[in-house]
Amino acid sequence: MKVSASELSLEEKIALVVGVGMPKNIPGAAGETRSIRGIPSIELSDGPSGLRVEPDGLRIYPSTAFPAPIMLASTWDPEIVEEVGRAIGIEASYNGIDILLAPGLNIHRHPLCGRNFEYFSEDPLLNGSMASSYVMGVQSAGIIATPKHLVANDQEVNRYIIDTVVSERALREIYLKPFEIVIKKASPGAIMTSYNKLNGKYTSQNPWLLEKILREEWGFRGIIMTDWGAGDNPVEQINSGVDLIMPGGDTYYNKLLEGARKGELDLRALDQRVERIIELINKIIKIRAERRPTSIDLNKHAEIAYKAALEGAILLKNDLETLPLKEGMKIAIFGTGQFETLKSGMGSGHNHSRYTISIYEGLKRSGLIVDEEISNIYEKYVLEKKGKEYLEKLYKDEVYPERLSQNVVPEELISKSADRNDVGIIVITRISGEDWDRKLAGGDYYLAHDERILIEKVSREFRRRGKRVVAILNIAGPIEIYSWRDLIDAILLIWLPGQEAGRVVADLLLGRVTPSGKLPITFPRDWSTTPVARAPECYPGIPPENPSRVVYCEDIYVGYRYYDTFGVEPAYEFGYGLSYTKFRYRDLDVRIMGDRIEIGFTIENVGKYSGREVAQIYIKGPGILLPRPEQELKGFKKTKLLKPGESEEIYVTIDLKDLAIYHPDKKVWIVEKGWYEVRVGASSRDIRLREKIYVDRELYYI
Ligand code: BGC
Repeated sequence: MKVSASELSLEEKIALVVGVGMPKNIPGAAGETRSIRGIPSIELSDGPSGLRVEPDGLRIYPSTAFPAPIMLASTWDPEIVEEVGRAIGIEASYNGIDILLAPGLNIHRHPLCGRNFEYFSEDPLLNGSMASSYVMGVQSAGIIATPKHLVANDQEVNRYIIDTVVSERALREIYLKPFEIVIKKASPGAIMTSYNKLNGKYTSQNPWLLEKILREEWGFRGIIMTDWGAGDNPVEQINSGVDLIMPGGDTYYNKLLEGARKGELDLRALDQRVERIIELINKIIKIRAERRPTSIDLNKHAEIAYKAALEGAILLKNDLETLPLKEGMKIAIFGTGQFETLKSGMGSGHNHSRYTISIYEGLKRSGLIVDEEISNIYEKYVLEKKGKEYLEKLYKDEVYPERLSQNVVPEELISKSADRNDVGIIVITRISGEDWDRKLAGGDYYLAHDERILIEKVSREFRRRGKRVVAILNIAGPIEIYSWRDLIDAILLIWLPGQEAGRVVADLLLGRVTPSGKLPITFPRDWSTTPVARAPECYPGIPPENPSRVVYCEDIYVGYRYYDTFGVEPAYEFGYGLSYTKFRYRDLDVRIMGDRIEIGFTIENVGKYSGREVAQIYIKGPGILLPRPEQELKGFKKTKLLKPGESEEIYVTIDLKDLAIYHPDKKVWIVEKGWYEVRVGASSRDIRLREKIYVDRELYYI
């Protein structure tokens, strides 16, 4: 195909920059471009936790449900994230998709954002690093990745119209940073703008964002597409830098045509957008011919999903070495979540997998002896309340799991079960999804009354007999744990772990694999201590029911940057996660070599189990020129699997440039002159080694 913009009529050009509206070619795909003059249409599909296409007429489910990105980030392991990306890319390619609408890299600013599970972290570096690995994986399969949603779309309430008000410094240091990292490191072929306005202007109609930052400053060469139906003026979108309006449709097409007739549409800009789209289509045609797989190994992908979920599960508590359990132990499982196990969240972050292994199923198959009388009560209750087909659907399709009471086992039976079992296990679930934020109410951020009663009863009966209680958290984002964690001996956080859920829980509880995930987001002690709740003058209501603006008045102090700087105690801090084994950190060596800081240290497994450790490097800067957070994550490294007694030398390099802060008046990035403290920790608050370095001159970057 050899077409250039100059050979096309105005109508044809406009047709190329506006999608078809409702896609027709691939069931469940999110979008499609128009085919004109023999230029084929290209196919676009979600999403972050796995390819979202519909099963075909024979009910063959064509994709794998991987752990949600919040769990991928909890692995702190770029390699497994790249493997997941590659597998999703292969599934996309096999199913005829050209562009994957993922990963999502908005910031976990608001602990209750409905889409936090689709995003990686509250920290821009962890976010950008994980997104880069994901993009490299997807694109290695010949599929174009689309980091989204640029930018400051960090909550769902009124997402189509809300105006995010944020300072330029916070925007650049926190919210734009992950996009900058992914563009410079992984060269994604596309970027999706967000729905919201940014400081008064829709992001899809914002030349400062799209032309100045994205193209000029970062050198982005891929295509810029809108989020689905974003903004209010397609002419302005094309004029401001958008290449592709999605999902498009005739209304948009006609508006552009009218804009051209009135002289409002910039025709030179249109030609440039068309050239870019044609270049992309040519690339896609070549990939289709050379790279499209004719078969697919879904079992292999299930193993990748399993491995990623094992790596991303986080042990929050393990008193008295409650875990690991031993084979043959008798367990009583409480909670409907043992059957209603959530593989993923709702909306475009959901996908249709062949199956989901429930927590009940996984534990039953594992060599533990499950108290069937207790489990039966929950199973019957779910079936009675929701019908037979509900569970089958939940494991494959998208169905909203309405919350049920958890306190349904008679008190005498709980007491009997404590007599006849070794351990009580309580499953807590929380769903969330696109287009709505989570609630503070009981049953969401806080425990519901029935959950609290259940926890109290199980805790009392088991502990009274010297037996232990374990909680499994199958949740989409942070919940309040501080007020009830003393009732529980061990807590395993499995987020939304994808289709292998039950298998993952069993193998971690039994210590076949030692948990090694760490938190990518802070768990606050209480809602009232969060920065979002603490700024009522900017943010009335939690979240406000119908806001037209959201003001980021905590500025750069997002997540741990806030808690650490202002001395607020979290329930579980950023970077936190226990292991069955213990690690010793030693022999820190830090030096400045040219424009880099080279950091070396050793981690030794001094415990009883094999395991992996995530070492984190935080830097405290001088903060003379401008105030700075107490510390910021600047590097991390996960060890290989270390046997007891084994050690690994870790080397991490940090560019001096990455210590820069953005000076909003001077409009430059500045590395301050002065002392910097390098802190090496097992979490943001468990610093094991530290050393100071001196930067002897101020450095400037544009
Ligand atoms: C979501 C995007 C998604 C698109 C297509 C939008 O509503 O915000 O993340 O990729 O729909 O499904």
